[in-house]
Amino acid sequence: QFTPRVFSGIKPSGGLTLGNYLGAIKRFVGMQGAMETMYCVVDLHAITVWQDPKELSHATREVAAGYLAAGLDPSQSILFNQSRVSAHAELGWIFNCVARVGWMNRMTQFKDKAGSNAEKVSLGLYAYPSLMAADILLYHATQVPVGEDQKQHVELTRDIAAKFNHDYKTDFFPMTEPVIDGPATRVMNLRDGSKKMSKSGESDMERINMRDGADLIAKKFKKAKTDPEPLPDTLDGLKGRPEARNLVDIYAALSDTTSEAVITEYAGAGWGRFKPALADLAVDRLAPISDEMTRLMDDPAEIDRILADGAERARTIAEPILSRTYEIVGL
Ligand code: ADP
Ligand code: NA
Repeated sequence: QFTPRVFSGIKPSGGLTLGNYLGAIKRFVGMQGAMETMYCVVDLHAITVWQDPKELSHATREVAAGYLAAGLDPSQSILFNQSRVSAHAELGWIFNCVARVGWMNRMTQFKDKAGSNAEKVSLGLYAYPSLMAADILLYHATQVPVGEDQKQHVELTRDIAAKFNHDYKTDFFPMTEPVIDGPATRVMNLRDGSKKMSKSGESDMERINMRDGADLIAKKFKKAKTDPEPLPDTLDGLKGRPEARNLVDIYAALSDTTSEAVITEYAGAGWGRFKPALADLAVDRLAPISDEMTRLMDDPAEIDRILADGAERARTIAEPILSRTYEIVGL
């Protein structure tokens, strides 16, 4: 009943990390061509926490440049930024009236981000998953490639679709599937193996940025926290060793192989051998993308043109779906 369609997005809220690359962008590229794909720069999500207006449009172009440099092609994928398609905000409001406060209260990412400060964060941060449901369902997207951290939000999207369909006695919205596959759907912080690597983490040493230079990448991996043991000869030997497992998973994702294959190749290797090999591999994969991002960022008007064109194409899909939603609701 629903045409296969992929939707996903990244917030322009700081420099892209290796987590964004492996958990999102690289996988976005992998799905391109097989079906209709739409990749958004979710700027309305970025402003749920303070963004300097002077930096936001730059950050939006940077994410777009990351998409393009990594291989997303505007003739094959719709690339756009969220705020240019006002239907996101409109459907988001309707979903605010469908989602329940109790559902939002169970969102672990909100609890993590708000911490003990839940009274002081923006209402937008709280409602974020409902806007995310709108991003996805506005296009009747059937698949959403995301990192592990977004799984709960895609489940909430399904809950919203199901409640809408039930309340209004319709089957208008699809049950979107999260796509969480490959070895690196949860790249961890290099200094603390219990936290994910994030754009907005405290220290730059805890993450690899897509645009870090070769020396910095080598230094960050060298200083990455590990245990003193060498690599085991089976993946089972990495149980209870989250930092070691993380570096093996990153290696696997960067080299398009499995973590098992990496362990087979490096069985018994110490960190003095594995970390430099990992750094070389990361530089080899990231440097060309970073160089291309630099080239693209030299021509911001061209990026804006690509995003504007994508927004126009997105609108042609969104508008009939929003109008029909209004009709169903009685608006
Ligand atoms: P961030 O958390 O870095 O601010 P976003 O919230 O914009 O990034 O997430 C964009 C996409 O990148 C999502 O699909 C998210 O799951 C993925 N992602 C973010 N961090 C990681 C990570 N450390 N490992 C794997 N995927 C990640
Ligand atoms: Na995230």
